[in-house]
Amino acid sequence: MLVSIVFDSGYGHTARVAQAVAEGARDVDNVQAELIAVADGPVDWDVLEKSDAIVFGSPTYNGMISARLKQFFEESTKAAWTELKWRNKISAGFTNSGAQHGDKLNSLVSMALFAAQHGMIWVGLDLMPGNNSSTSSPDALNRLGSWLGVMTHANVDQAPDVAPPECDLRTAHYLGRRVAEITRRLTPTQSANARKDP
Ligand SMILES: Cc1cc2nc3c(=O)[nH]c(=O)nc-3n(C[C@H](O)[C@H](O)[C@H](O)COP(=O)(O)O)c2cc1C
Repeated sequence: MLVSIVFDSGYGHTARVAQAVAEGARDVDNVQAELIAVADGPVDWDVLEKSDAIVFGSPTYNGMISARLKQFFEESTKAAWTELKWRNKISAGFTNSGAQHGDKLNSLVSMALFAAQHGMIWVGLDLMPGNNSSTSSPDALNRLGSWLGVMTHANVDQAPDVAPPECDLRTAHYLGRRVAEITRRLTPTQSANARKDP
């Protein structure tokens, strides 16, 4: 099974989150995770067509996804959408920003809408909100209390080796694992496919 993580990151913070998602996916037996940075040049559309799941990640810039991820979204129209090549693939998303809120929800909504337009199946985060009670802490899993996807926060004066904090990376790891587990549950095995062939 292949989980691809297509992401952008201008300054490296979202890239760290992408790595955590990949590590979470790889925790599941027989799952490979491929990191695809849209800034690295032309995307290999064949890898995405072969993928069982595609996770989207972006920094929140100006209250929305980055221009580079949007460019990838637009290019996918010809490469995948016209033949609905990604129909029924599992999808999910994550976004990182400099403010704790920072209007990150708009980025996740854009990703989920994009996935729906491709006929994909969106997987949210099945976690209770962290840091929302007197007994919780800012180190809690899902400390920013998001469900549509993972939200992480990196202080603007800290480099990607320390921001976003460990708890946000654990939340991203959790999403990667969840995506892989759900993909495994919903992806027919090769033997099941073979049985369907005449
Ligand atoms: C052009 C630009 C726009 C930004 N807009 C927002 C924003 O709307 N909300 C926010 O919280 N932070 C905003 N930031 C801060 C980034 O989200 C933050 O620095 C983030 O960690 C960058 O992730 P990256 O290192 O993966 O590029 C913006 C930064 C830039 C460069």
